Amino acid sequence: MYDYIHIQTGQKLYYVGNSLGTLLALAAFSQEKLVNMTKSAALLGPIAYLGQLSSVFARTIVTTFLAEKAYWLGVSEFIPEGLVVGKILEGVCVLSLIDCNNVISALGGPNCCKMPSTIDVLFDHTFQSTSTKNIVHLSQMVRAGNIAEYDYGDENENMAHYGQPTPPMYYMTRIPKDIPLFLAYGGKDTLSDVNVVQLLLENLKDHVKDKLVVQYRDYYAHFDFIMAENANRVLYDPLLAFLMTP
Ligand SMILES: *[C@@H]1O[C@H](CO)[C@@H](O)[C@H](O)[C@H]1NC(C)=O
Repeated sequence: MYDYIHIQTGQKLYYVGNSLGTLLALAAFSQEKLVNMTKSAALLGPIAYLGQLSSVFARTIVTTFLAEKAYWLGVSEFIPEGLVVGKILEGVCVLSLIDCNNVISALGGPNCCKMPSTIDVLFDHTFQSTSTKNIVHLSQMVRAGNIAEYDYGDENENMAHYGQPTPPMYYMTRIPKDIPLFLAYGGKDTLSDVNVVQLLLENLKDHVKDKLVVQYRDYYAHFDFIMAENANRVLYDPLLAFLMTP
């Protein structure tokens, strides 16, 4: 996608990522080629480390090997509402003793400022499926406490894919010090936990000062970045100002 946009427009990219989209960007920035194609990047609810994930709901999916079970059952499309996964998810809700009537809060923390109309739009489209392999990959990283490529669980197969027996790792310390970065994180976010963002900020402590904009919203949970009714004012305005900085 990076290549395509870069080639079609002949320009560098302004990258705006949320949630999984931030992990992809942080991983991409260990590749010089992609860094060279990037003008600036804004990361909302950044996920840089998964080992300390505080979302009980997400943790339960990991510890019960839910995604792996779905994979073994031949379910390659991970749909929370889908039949098989839905049945197993019910178990997750019971095991983790959380109220799954509000899956959004259960997954990403208590939202501060939901807008009823946004919720309606969201549920017209949510939850979109993802590949079971994607969830298996995320589960692997939660267990291993690192950010790495997918582990095929077999040295020979990893070798065939990566030319090495273990999956290549990504290191946040390799993020170039002069790439303009906008990081917004929330105090109530259980998928991008405050402690984890502190680790990321620690990695960025030598970042060129005027190339790093950090926005903390103490009352924001993971889905407030895209759902809060005040997001346009408290988040997108400073985000646009950042993107327009020459
Ligand atoms: C990235 O840009 C730098 C500076 O212009 C250049 O030296 C380097 O070769 C580029 N790297 C890649 C992989 O294109």
